[in-house]
Amino acid sequence: MIVLKSQREIDAMKKAGEILAACHKEIAKMVKPGITTWEIEEFVEQFLEKHQAVPQQKGYKGYKYATCASINDEVCHGFPRKDPLKEGDIVTIDMVVNYNGSLADSAWSYPVGKVSEETEHLLKVTKKALYKGIEAAVPGNRIGDIGHAIQTYVEAEGFSVVRDFIGHGIGAVIHEKPDVPHYGLPGKGPRIKEGMVFTIEPMVNIGAYQTKMDANGWTARTIDGKYSAQYEHTIAITKDGVMILTEQDK
Ligand code: MF3
Ligand code: CO
Repeated sequence: MIVLKSQREIDAMKKAGEILAACHKEIAKMVKPGITTWEIEEFVEQFLEKHQAVPQQKGYKGYKYATCASINDEVCHGFPRKDPLKEGDIVTIDMVVNYNGSLADSAWSYPVGKVSEETEHLLKVTKKALYKGIEAAVPGNRIGDIGHAIQTYVEAEGFSVVRDFIGHGIGAVIHEKPDVPHYGLPGKGPRIKEGMVFTIEPMVNIGAYQTKMDANGWTARTIDGKYSAQYEHTIAITKDGVMILTEQDK
């Protein structure tokens, strides 16, 4: 069942999204060679506390941290850790913010210092893929149109789209219906309607789309060891069109 949200509920989620976006803007300034994802984790904890918000991932299904910090070939759900990031790495910081009971979810990939041309291209294409997906998220379209737009664009750029992890509705809990794959056929899936709130969060790989799971049971990485990037927004379908709840530029 897809739970539709009222404009009031969407406005409340937008407040959580604004805190999240502000937090990402600070992280963007912090990421450089030598910093650890553990320092970013601690920064996020403090930032959210200062804004009277709660890191919703902490404790979710036994996950222990406020952030997921996925480096290089890690596709998602990397643990924050104390190894310094190195020039040429990429790191994706993903978090869910709870503000007064309302949630927002956003992941962003960051280059560490100067990265290779191929890596730069990966970041550019993955971010653009997110916005291609958002453009397809218009009332009357179907959820499948989003994934189709993303996959078509990403594959034309010579990269692949992860299938094992997908976007999701979000509301009272982090993961609700609908499922939002970042690949697939147009015209499939539920029709996009006013009141829907969901994430679009393409994970894009330089090499093969397949992933494998680490022994920790959480962290997924690419099967070929090549880099993976991810950009995620939480969006709401309103009567005025698509509203991005986690936009960093506004
Ligand atoms: N933010 C993630 C998502 O985009 C959810 C991570 S679940 C956690 O779906 F337990 F790893 F935090
Ligand atoms: Co997320």
